[in-house]
Amino acid sequence: MWFVRFLTSSIGKKLIMAATGLLLVLFLFTHVAGNATIFMSSEVFQSYADELHSHPLIVLIFSLSLLLVILAHVVVGLFLFYENRQESNSRYAVTTRVVKNSFASETMPYTGLFILLFLFVHIFGFTFSPKDVLISVTVKELLGNFFYSLFYIIAFIALTIHLSHGFWSMLQTFGVNHPRYNTLISRLTLGIPLFFLLIFGGVALYFMTGLGASY
Ligand code: HEM
Repeated sequence: MWFVRFLTSSIGKKLIMAATGLLLVLFLFTHVAGNATIFMSSEVFQSYADELHSHPLIVLIFSLSLLLVILAHVVVGLFLFYENRQESNSRYAVTTRVVKNSFASETMPYTGLFILLFLFVHIFGFTFSPKDVLISVTVKELLGNFFYSLFYIIAFIALTIHLSHGFWSMLQTFGVNHPRYNTLISRLTLGIPLFFLLIFGGVALYFMTGLGASY
């Protein structure tokens, strides 16, 4: 079938990576906005979480779709990594890659797998936290632990490195590449990952340093 052939072709796989990557960045924007309410007070954050969970069907559909998107991104990403390795191991291969190898692009599979590890720890800690404890209390308890927060901050740094290449790569796949916009594109490729690092990392530091003691 043409559709399966397209999806398993090189361009098909790149498109899946770009589209799922874009959806994940959009998810991160909604997540970071929700997390920012932590800086207001535990009551504001709790009422945000309660409001979210007052629509269980929407939350379920959203979570399952997110799971599918993450799965597609990871599985196709690992395929591409494997193919690239085969290509660079072949003596006769002519490389078709136009990307200059930066630290971020070379380490994509490793930063990606570290983020996946973070997601297991994170979802186990928060989404499956005991239902008789308020989520605002769980956030303070978990992130109040120095090593738990440190692990989070290392994962956010990995996310920043991953996105700094991923966002740029996504724009190339979608054909967003014009001399007039290149300055804007390079600002966004750096600015968006740093923005996530600032807010997500800020929340972890808030509890890690004891600043959030009265939260
Ligand atoms: C300090 C930073 C973060 C905090 C405090 C935080 C907090 C939370 C909380 C409380 C939940 C559970 C929401 C609920 O069920 O009520 C959650 C879910 C989740 N978080 Fe985070 N998060 C942070 C960073 C991140 C990052 C960086 C990512 C992605 C790389 C992420 C991905 C997710 C995912 C995938 C879910 C499950 C969403 C769903 O099932 O629909 N989180 N987070």
